[in-house]
Amino acid sequence: MNAVEQSLHFENVVRQEWTSPTTINAWQDWSEEQSIHCKPLTDALIRHTQLAEGQTVLDLAGGVGEPALPIARIVGAAGSVVATDLSEGMLAVAADKARREGLTNLRFEVADVHELPYADNSFDRVVSRLGLMYFWNIEQAISEIHRVLKPGGVASFVVWGSPEQNEYFGSILAPFNQRREMPAQSDDMPTPTRFGDVSKLTEMFACQGFSEVASQAYCEALPWPGTPRELFQHFYDMAVPLQPYIDSFDENEREAVLQEIEAAFSKRWDGKYTNAFASFNTVYLTK
Ligand SMILES: C[S@@+](CC[C@H](N)C(=O)[O-])C[C@H]1O[C@@H](n2cnc3c(N)ncnc32)[C@H](O)[C@@H]1O
Repeated sequence: MNAVEQSLHFENVVRQEWTSPTTINAWQDWSEEQSIHCKPLTDALIRHTQLAEGQTVLDLAGGVGEPALPIARIVGAAGSVVATDLSEGMLAVAADKARREGLTNLRFEVADVHELPYADNSFDRVVSRLGLMYFWNIEQAISEIHRVLKPGGVASFVVWGSPEQNEYFGSILAPFNQRREMPAQSDDMPTPTRFGDVSKLTEMFACQGFSEVASQAYCEALPWPGTPRELFQHFYDMAVPLQPYIDSFDENEREAVLQEIEAAFSKRWDGKYTNAFASFNTVYLTK
């Protein structure tokens, strides 16, 4: 496959995953728990974004509303947030949540990050939580981010860190992998841990002319509001591309795996939350 064919292939994979009703339903069903679980990521992103009342903010790949909803509360009625995503179904879940919360300073627009339908220098802030790794032409996406951000504006992003330091992914996948290895994927494939090595990202942002580019690596316990078994169920439901691999294990193997997952996470279960450690990286920059 040449570079153009590969980019087209990634685009098809990403569009299929995020517009499939299975994915959208899972993100809707687990939305509340996911919001609690990933709050440390949202908090880190918000800390680096230097938000203030009255700002205009663009959220890219906003999914079911994070971090657009918490940011809308910060910028207040004088500010505004545009939450974008390629998936109309994901945005519909976000819009419903905003309506129920009575938030009126944000709007939802279907937009591919590679071709943003906004004028140059439109936004004070551009953000994305767990979106960058899915962008099939990351250089083009970064160029669009640069174009729509106002001079002096800040953009900040959060992505999953290296899989080796990520107990959340590691303890769930290791017992499967030990029995039968997961199919290998190319390094540039749009997988959740594609930018585990954050230096790749900072270099790309620096090349696009941002004046200050910085990153920070985190490894923190994420508060999953349920038992280790529920944590696995959530992981399975949301990681739709991994389902064929997980489903290839028969019932006995799967039960044995689940018991290993429960044992691995038992030290993280405090009776209310499973606090598994996860690594994540923030990248933040000024235009
Ligand atoms: C892991 S979800 C993150 C959603 C949300 N930001 C969150 O943290 O809960 C990834 C999102 O990226 C969106 N996405 C992937 N590629 C995109 C693109 N090229 N343009 C816009 N959205 C994209 C998907 O539709 C999906 O909603």
